[in-house]
Amino acid sequence: MHVFDPNSPALTLGVCGTGAMGRGIAQIAAQGGVRVLLQDAKAGAAQAARDAIAAMLKTLAEKGKLTTEHVEAAVAKLEVVESTSAFAACDVVIEAIVEILEVKKKLFAELETIVRDDCVLASNTSSLSVTAIAAACKKPARVAGYHFFNPVPVMKLVEVVPGMLTDPAVCEALTVLARRMGRTPVTTKDTPGFIVNHAGRGFGTEAFRILGEGITEFYEIDRIMRDQAGFKLGPCELMDLTGIDVSHPVMESIYRQYYEEPRYKPSIIGQQRKDAGLLGRKTGRGFYNHTGGKQEELPIRPVPAAKPASVFIPQAVLAENAHLADFFGKLTVKIVTGSASSADVCFVSALGQDCTTAALAAGLDPTRTVAIDGLMPIKARVTLMTNPLTSAAARDFAHAACASAGVQVSLIHDSAGFVAQRILAMIVNIGCEIVQQRICAPADLDLAVTLGLGYPLGPLAFGDALGPKRVLTILENMQAFYGDPRYRPSPWLKRRAMLGVSLLTGEA
Ligand code: NAI
Repeated sequence: MHVFDPNSPALTLGVCGTGAMGRGIAQIAAQGGVRVLLQDAKAGAAQAARDAIAAMLKTLAEKGKLTTEHVEAAVAKLEVVESTSAFAACDVVIEAIVEILEVKKKLFAELETIVRDDCVLASNTSSLSVTAIAAACKKPARVAGYHFFNPVPVMKLVEVVPGMLTDPAVCEALTVLARRMGRTPVTTKDTPGFIVNHAGRGFGTEAFRILGEGITEFYEIDRIMRDQAGFKLGPCELMDLTGIDVSHPVMESIYRQYYEEPRYKPSIIGQQRKDAGLLGRKTGRGFYNHTGGKQEELPIRPVPAAKPASVFIPQAVLAENAHLADFFGKLTVKIVTGSASSADVCFVSALGQDCTTAALAAGLDPTRTVAIDGLMPIKARVTLMTNPLTSAAARDFAHAACASAGVQVSLIHDSAGFVAQRILAMIVNIGCEIVQQRICAPADLDLAVTLGLGYPLGPLAFGDALGPKRVLTILENMQAFYGDPRYRPSPWLKRRAMLGVSLLTGEA
């Protein structure tokens, strides 16, 4: 199919629906020198959008972020039109109306009676099937998904989504147009959640698993994911920001669309919090209380006064785990490695195992044994895990010993896998599954996740940093312990771990 030249100075773009997303798309297109026709079903909405964009650009010019010439040129590109019939002049139309399949299908069928034969029709849908929308058209080859992120002028990513019948030339043109609009395009198969909303399934759902099992408090999960794993926000903080009225239905939708794939299973905790109206920042109360835009501070467990006379660390732990050897070297308590008999507390390391299993495997007295997470270098925080028999004294000794290295200590109950291990292993495994299913290229997955979700690393780079073999061990141990197919490792991860190569390794 012959499609528009994305670099043409005469390019005309129609934006149908000028709410939060439509106006953002119109803004970046106009800034890229594209003529934009703004249309909205609600009277006055398109004009209001144009005014808002003009005001926004003017503010940016006043702050010195844009030149006055650039702003004037961009605003001159924005034209309000009364009806979709004006789209007869368009090379491409981007739809950003309500997220209801039947409404979108009706619009696309109507647009096809107006636009030229070579006009591309793009949908900004975030959760609907592009193929299903295109099915309403006589020429589904011209239809593609063009998924921008909110707020559009800030978020650089756009997912370009060919439907089953889309002409490849359509996506090629949209990809170049995205660059002209200052975005970073990635191509994804038309699958539920595309890349970003699919890759994001591990973070919140595994946090809910951990909470549901009573392993620790929600704020401890957030602290661990921030301080140990390097995320800007923990999963519960993120749900408070997004709103559980948005996050929970997305979890349900992706889970259902993937025919109840256990990796994506939502939680009753989300449903109940939504029912209770604990939506998050927007209602002032979610997991946290939010007052005047500030999240409440929650208590930190004080460091116990009593220090152990000595702690036992198995020699194998020090030999095999450089992070732990480095950390234990900073403790200001006596360390013994020969015999555990005289020690106040014994440390074991565990990957995807619980403290109970690790203590028994090491032949240690469970009442004096605590597990320590050595998956990552220990900088600001360390996580310790007790088993059902760990005495309060041993737990406190372990806490005080670790605090002597100048780090915060998170204490959690017994769990197959520590908090960061569980959540990171889920993120890596789901990422592996995305590339295994050829939804996108390995490098594009990491690019989309860092830009779209703001994770410190993409899922595959995270897996490489932790070590594919270790991630595989975490998942295998979790699956063995819980007997839950949720934790079954992706074939992509298994093979690369066995071969000892990067998770970014594709296939010839
Ligand atoms: P919004 O509610 O802010 O704006 C929708 C606009 O479309 C409204 O101004 C409404 O009057 C107009 N509209 C509704 N039906 C129309 C029709 N038949 N013809 C013309 N205009 C019509 O919604 P928002 O947030 O801008 O979302 C729009 C689309 O973008 C949805 O499909 C949504 O899933 C998708 N999206 C939204 C994101 C977000 O974070 N808000 C992120 C990515 C995609």
